[in-house]
Amino acid sequence: MTAGARVAVIGAGYVGLPTSAVLARLGHTVTCAERDEARFGALAAGRVPMLEEGLAEMVHDAVASGALRFVRSAAEAARGAQFVFVCVATPGRGDGATDLSAVEQVASELAGALEPGAIVVNKSTVPVGTASALERMTGAPVVSNPEFLREGSAVRDSLHPDRVVVGADDRRAARRVGELFSGTGAPLVVTDALTAETIKYASNAFLATKLSFVNALAGLCESVGADVRDVVLGLGYDRRIGFDFLRPGPGWGGSCLPKDTDALLRVAEAAGYDFALLRAAVEANAEARERVVRKVVHAAGGQLSGRTVGVWGLTFKAGTDDRRMSPSLAVSRRLMDLGAVVRAYDPTVPPGPVPSDLEGIVLCADPYDACRGASAVALLTEWEEFCGLDFAKVAGLMSAPALVDARNLLDPAALRRAGFSYTGMGRR
Ligand code: UDX
Repeated sequence: MTAGARVAVIGAGYVGLPTSAVLARLGHTVTCAERDEARFGALAAGRVPMLEEGLAEMVHDAVASGALRFVRSAAEAARGAQFVFVCVATPGRGDGATDLSAVEQVASELAGALEPGAIVVNKSTVPVGTASALERMTGAPVVSNPEFLREGSAVRDSLHPDRVVVGADDRRAARRVGELFSGTGAPLVVTDALTAETIKYASNAFLATKLSFVNALAGLCESVGADVRDVVLGLGYDRRIGFDFLRPGPGWGGSCLPKDTDALLRVAEAAGYDFALLRAAVEANAEARERVVRKVVHAAGGQLSGRTVGVWGLTFKAGTDDRRMSPSLAVSRRLMDLGAVVRAYDPTVPPGPVPSDLEGIVLCADPYDACRGASAVALLTEWEEFCGLDFAKVAGLMSAPALVDARNLLDPAALRRAGFSYTGMGRR
């Protein structure tokens, strides 16, 4: 059905809400269930409780046109729905295992509440083999439809996906789910459920490996005296490599890449396959963070005890308010462990009561305040606003003007003119 389907989406988080808005935009009638009281309350009052470019307008338009509404329970959303999308969190449990309790809870609510002939579509990232377990729990055909959207560009990625993957043992059901997205014009990959689930992990594992490669390359460039930005330019023109996803940084983070690489390593181990290459990519990510810590220690004069370090950026990347598995937090904690006082500024984090994940960090109202009395400042998230600062003013506020630019965002020549000692990533 290319348009006009009745769709339920369970979960209004980083995946469920953009999915709901895009399905409505594609001409379907969507009922989205959110059981979290605060989040449901915000949505019911017309507020979108996350920073995501273009999403608030799209949700607003869909609600105003009657194509999207919000309810509290999965069972309520499933009433009358031909397709029920499961978009709930599947966090890591720390040991590589995946916490499936939210998915299982939804499956048990759906069992008995689904319309005859309804198809369950799983978008949550789950260990390979989960779709068939969900079929047993819900009594309905389950199609695996992994989500590849990036936070911060969720609307664009969902409206113009590079591909749509649908996997089910019942290929007809898979194709029907694929047709819901035909309005995007994206290529459709139809396969079995196990393969679709594997594609999701493979995609994130490949991206993580690519980033670990470029971060290691930055380290190599520093050792041999090459410039990583020109190396990437020379690599990127090769169409087999491309320019995307090759910016060196303080390591990769977020709610997906760390969790999904750990989960895939566990899936591989359980299946008796030693995925040594992926293990190395994960280990290299810890090294990438540690290299940034060493640069900050060096910039601050060799040790951090009793020193103040300014930190610019706390989210795991720019364009989102998400701090889950943020490299910036990992680096900040290490700096505090080494004795530093960390003063931090992020445009999405207001000063005031300190949230539990930022415990010990002094939250500042602006980037200048974060540098007051600092022996070094570390730029850890690539927010554009850091490019337009008055660096002479920053230098004047610091006890010694030293800057570690972990995102290669700034112009070293301009900083040196302002009196800074500048350290980038893999730059000459
Ligand atoms: C990722 C995948 O890209 C997406 O397809 C999947 O659906 C969910 O996981 P997301 O977590 O939103 O998306 O972040 P992404 O943009 O992929 O960035 C991941 C991490 O890599 C961030 O910490 C980011 O700063 C870092 N990164 C990304 C770099 O350091 N350099 C780059 O060139 C790109």
